[in-house]
Amino acid sequence: MRGTEREAILAEIRDIVRKSASRDEKLRDICELLRKRVDHYDWVGFYLVEGDETLVLGPFSGEPTVHVRIKFGEGICGQAAALKKPFLVQDVSRENNYLSCSPLVKSELVVPIFKGEVLVGELDIDSHKLAPFNDEDLKFLQDVCKIVSDALF
Ligand code: SME
Repeated sequence: MRGTEREAILAEIRDIVRKSASRDEKLRDICELLRKRVDHYDWVGFYLVEGDETLVLGPFSGEPTVHVRIKFGEGICGQAAALKKPFLVQDVSRENNYLSCSPLVKSELVVPIFKGEVLVGELDIDSHKLAPFNDEDLKFLQDVCKIVSDALF
């Protein structure tokens, strides 16, 4: 993905968070935009922190998943939440602590969303490609999470 395309998507996300709609509608629009515009993003969703140790599935774009509640520490999402750090798995077949949503998924990147120091949610990206993610994806998705955190949490 080119830098100009990343900037264009970020500008569209800034427009989405400004429009008059509920938080869930805005989060869903962001998921749909990311999935449509980035080839290797095949499932895009938000998980929101509930209580001390649980992630609950929020708006998403892609196939429905059975993993609607995930405990901290479980799977890639739960590990990212426990560590409070991005978690990148370029080949999910090599990750033992993994919750499969679809046999088509080959890689996954989870980026935490913070409000100040507090973890409030995550942005989860699944890809049907092997090892498609690079440092620019991470930086780009951290920018997305910052916009979302500033505007919607
Ligand atoms: N694969 C994730 C579960 C969520 S789905 O990707 C939508 C995990 O291992 O935490």
